[in-house]
Amino acid sequence: MNRVFILVLVLVVSSCSNSGPGYEFMPNMYRSPSLETYGQNSVFSDSLNARKPVKGTIARNYLSTFYYDGTLSDYLDAGNNAINPIDNTEANINDGKKLYSMFCKHCHGEFGAGGGSITHPIYSAIPHYNEAKLLRRANLPMSELKPGHIFHAITYGLNAMGPHSSQLSEEERWKIVLYVQELQKYSAE
Ligand code: HEC
Repeated sequence: MNRVFILVLVLVVSSCSNSGPGYEFMPNMYRSPSLETYGQNSVFSDSLNARKPVKGTIARNYLSTFYYDGTLSDYLDAGNNAINPIDNTEANINDGKKLYSMFCKHCHGEFGAGGGSITHPIYSAIPHYNEAKLLRRANLPMSELKPGHIFHAITYGLNAMGPHSSQLSEEERWKIVLYVQELQKYSAE
């Protein structure tokens, strides 16, 4: 009985102070002894070690064959400078055609003339790949867009066309570019 009384007394007294945190029964619960992610620590001689990505990992959005971001100026730079690393062979164009039919045809149509299976008011302005008159943001008609413009459009999208960077690898995107360049040659009629 006495012990219970003393315990209650201790608890009452130790919890009644307003002028401080009071007695901490388990300080580790308040101040974690574990290392903070990215914080300085004593484990690595150079604390930056902890921040290096694991060997062999690839940073998000990193592309090894295309160094342009989603801005208009990078779009224009890409048009002038980006080079398709994939060889322009029949096999690669055929791969591009298959990918095109999976990822682009439903909007741009089988031959890039629009009229895909998606019919919706916001997609009604799908341009023809061979459209000679329509000037695009590159100040070029659709038929003269360069590989870098096309790769940029696939990667970052444009208005109603969403970005396709999470669905297609870089190599796949370049193969589609080869095929779109074939479609650019088709007659607009
Ligand atoms: C959801 C429908 C849709 C899909 C899917 C789609 N596009 Fe488009 N695409 C559009 C529309 C709409 C535009 C016109 C955007 C604008 O000018 O506002 C466009 C524009 C473009 C342009 C011109 C961009 C420029 O710089 O002016 C290219 C090139 C293009 N698409 C290629 C592709 C390729 C290749 C694929 C497949 C990987 C694809 N698109 C998938 C709807 C789509």
